[in-house]
Amino acid sequence: MQSTNSELNQREKIPTHIYESADEACQVVASAIAELIRDREAEGKPTVLGLATGSTPVRLYRELIRMHQEEALSFANVVTFNLDEYYGLDGDHPESYRRFMRDQLFDHVDLKPENTHVPDGRVEREAAYASCHAYEQAITDAGGIDIQILGIGRTGHIGFNEPGSGPETLTRLVTLDSLTRRDAARDFLGEANVPRHAITMGVGTILAARQVFLLAWGEGKASVIARTVEGAPTEAIPATFLQRHANCRFCIDRAAAGQLTRISCPWLVGPVDWTPEMTRKAVLWLAGKTGKSLLKLIDEDYTENGMADLLTERGRAYDVNIDLFNITQHTITGWPGGKPGADDSNRPERADPFPKRSLVLSPEPLDDVYSMGGTLNRLTTQGHLLTVAYQTTGNLAVPDEDVRGAIELMIELADGGQSGTDNSFARLVERQLEAKGSFGADTAEIRHLKGLIRRSEARASARTLGVSNDRLHFMDLPFYEKGRYRRFVAEDADVAAMRALLDSLKPHQIFATGYGHDPLSVPALCFDILCRALKECSHADWVQDCIIWLYRGPGQEWETHEIDMAVPLSPDEFENKIQGIYQHQSQRSQSAGTAEKKTHNTWDLAHQINQATAATYDALGLADYEAIECFKRWAPAH
Ligand code: GLP
Repeated sequence: MQSTNSELNQREKIPTHIYESADEACQVVASAIAELIRDREAEGKPTVLGLATGSTPVRLYRELIRMHQEEALSFANVVTFNLDEYYGLDGDHPESYRRFMRDQLFDHVDLKPENTHVPDGRVEREAAYASCHAYEQAITDAGGIDIQILGIGRTGHIGFNEPGSGPETLTRLVTLDSLTRRDAARDFLGEANVPRHAITMGVGTILAARQVFLLAWGEGKASVIARTVEGAPTEAIPATFLQRHANCRFCIDRAAAGQLTRISCPWLVGPVDWTPEMTRKAVLWLAGKTGKSLLKLIDEDYTENGMADLLTERGRAYDVNIDLFNITQHTITGWPGGKPGADDSNRPERADPFPKRSLVLSPEPLDDVYSMGGTLNRLTTQGHLLTVAYQTTGNLAVPDEDVRGAIELMIELADGGQSGTDNSFARLVERQLEAKGSFGADTAEIRHLKGLIRRSEARASARTLGVSNDRLHFMDLPFYEKGRYRRFVAEDADVAAMRALLDSLKPHQIFATGYGHDPLSVPALCFDILCRALKECSHADWVQDCIIWLYRGPGQEWETHEIDMAVPLSPDEFENKIQGIYQHQSQRSQSAGTAEKKTHNTWDLAHQINQATAATYDALGLADYEAIECFKRWAPAH
């Protein structure tokens, strides 16, 4: 989808192409790179690429590697310059960008090592200026960058040019923003381990490239993309300076495009087809914009906000308002598994069959409770046959400190002669923890113990919500055990495990998450695995009869127009859910939430979750609830 009409061009100041998937976008960008490399090769000239790190370009690099292996694309004539490097890390550190590039690209193609450049993160502070200057000089000596690949940080940074970076800046030592450090916390197994400084090319260095492609995937990037593409150039969002570049293109997926005006409010940029979905989206937006409840919207509200043609089609505001009021009202139900024996013509879930086999998929322990703890409780107390399947162990998100606590307990029990075992496993893990230091990778034993910690938290949490432990299923999908955050690859074994679970349960309803996330995130991979498994069994009778409900994580709840089922919670139910969240002690300092909400960690968010949705329903003139858990109905494309 391309921006075409002039209204759009006025709003969108950078050519932005929206693709169905990250893979599709990466194929386009990889082809542009390959074409340039081949053209230059034919002219006997080298190609100079500016490269980025982070999860965003990983699929692009996988595509380039595929082209090298299958289409004889050679990198022998390519010179590369990376955008940035953490300060203080040497090139072998597992989180250094030099190491990242080796793992993700350099070691898999025929690039000459001497042609690859990554800023030196280990340079002495006094020598940093000279080193940065030399980096700029090396780019100039190579003839300048032909194609620069960029991701974007949620602060609006490109490279590590944090807010405050001007358009003339060059390669230099910078201090990282606290949000950037929080976003990197999982990679470094804790925010405290994330370096405070980095060396980065400047905005000016980036603007000097002859062509720029910025890539972005997932709803987490939607806000910063909209502000970068549609906002005024500002140092507060350094990526906005790309508006000044004559040959810059954004290649993004649908989720990352979600807040561009043409997607979020298309009626503001041109005529739209007033389908029921579009009408719902527009009228709920209008209520939010005017601060009115649905039944108080008047004709002028519609006509003054780009929706006059809706009234032409549908009559008076009064009729549209009532229609939308009823539609929204019908999303509310206290019976997420359907209400047995009731008329279900206006309810989100069917009354029959009862009881239902309900499957809740949680990418890591806690995702389930966070987004749908109240619903879990209701499904159980209303007599449905609930299974909660934890797709991964989530062991990478357990701080070492919690393992130390567990091994102290084991040693004390063993040494006191009470546990019936010796202390050798605990001592082994103790030695391994010592040996790995803060940055080393966890051994299999450490990961195992961390996984057990999360299991016991999941059980405690389920008990709080009235879900008995025999309803919990720990899948421990293999992809997670083999990888690190941002570097996972889902394989056939994962799909087979999911398929086996589905075949054995034959659920009537599935609650899942991960749709629209960054494609390399754990929830997105888990969702992809579910889709692949569902595709394999798409002809089974139970699949035809199964409803899939999507939930979303903290700070990213569904917008009102997307909600198909809203499950209200009373103050007591809400408090109970929070107690369920608190059982996940190892997650107390994990960061979560969106940039706008400025939430710091999982605990801070617990009291906010689901309340915004309740407040919105109240403001629309519907009932005033304490909290609402919300779901969107989804049909897989077969
Ligand atoms: C880091 C990198 C950026 C990258 C950003 C986004 O801060 N220095 O170059 O664009 O992260 O990361 P991700 O692609 O993982 O979302």
